[in-house]
Amino acid sequence: GHIRKATHIVSTISDDRGEEPLYLGIPISEVIQQEMSIGDVISLLWFKRKLPRWASKFIEMCLIVAADHGPCVSGAHNTIVTARAGKDLISCLCSGLLTIGPRFGGAIDDAAINFKKALDNGIPPDVFVEDLKRQGRRVEGIGHRIKTAENQDKRVEILCQYAKQHFPAMKYFNYARAVESYTLQKANNLVLNIDGCIGSLLVDLLSSCGCFSEQEVKEILELGALNGLFVLSRSIGLIGHALDQKRMKQPLYRHPADDVLYATE
Ligand code: ACO
Ligand code: LMR
Repeated sequence: GHIRKATHIVSTISDDRGEEPLYLGIPISEVIQQEMSIGDVISLLWFKRKLPRWASKFIEMCLIVAADHGPCVSGAHNTIVTARAGKDLISCLCSGLLTIGPRFGGAIDDAAINFKKALDNGIPPDVFVEDLKRQGRRVEGIGHRIKTAENQDKRVEILCQYAKQHFPAMKYFNYARAVESYTLQKANNLVLNIDGCIGSLLVDLLSSCGCFSEQEVKEILELGALNGLFVLSRSIGLIGHALDQKRMKQPLYRHPADDVLYATE
């Protein structure tokens, strides 16, 4: 008879044992035949669901609009310096990716969790902001180095317009906007940033697409899955910056000493 032995690994998303790989039970030939998109594949492998078309299209829009934000941001800067140190593509990519975190691109999950908790508990936006301030914390999803009320972030506008046309509900995004209205009274760069926009709209998407229970939405947010979207998207730009530097055969980077205040005394 068969002897049962405990396996070392349990996996629930894909299977490579047959003739062709299965993504959540769907053969990749069918994925191609059905013209599933990258957004659909992400939904299958990350969220274990086939999402409605409007939802997977939104995921793809996030990937497109966050793919790059020029050479000056933390991630691209690290990647450029690494490429100029003669390192391989993967090192350049990883060097850039390692800057993604609470200040840069990695505030999506916390923004989503905080906006959701605040709205679900009926906390008014001003009380929400002042509570965080009392705790010495910044509002995740709010604030930008160069974007202001007068120089708005086009990416936020594009995602918001799409959501207005296609989402069944936008209550978490509207809450995030109300938080922004309050923080803008303090300083004009305390705008709803791309992390806060993606975070709040993804809570709206997950909550209103009809594919997840309330508990499942909470679990997805706690997994830290949403920051994965920024990581995936920005990898496109980071690889681009590494190739760009290599193509131009840029020399080793050394930061100009006259741009450093040597405060050694
Ligand atoms: N909540 C509350 N107050 C804030 C916030 C915020 N999110 N951001 C800035 N401030 C206030 C603070 O009082 C800060 O003073 P402090 O340094 O004494 O705390 C003051 O504004 C000045 O901040 P700035 O110089 O304008 O902004 P800074 O360059 O320090 O920060 C940053 C920009 C990192 C994006 C910041 O706004 C922040 O931490 N936001 C929350 C995290 C976040 O959403 N990051 C994702 C940004 S989008 C992206 O990276 C793709
Ligand atoms: C980004 O997308 O990298 C940013 O919004 C951060 C920045 O400072 O531009």
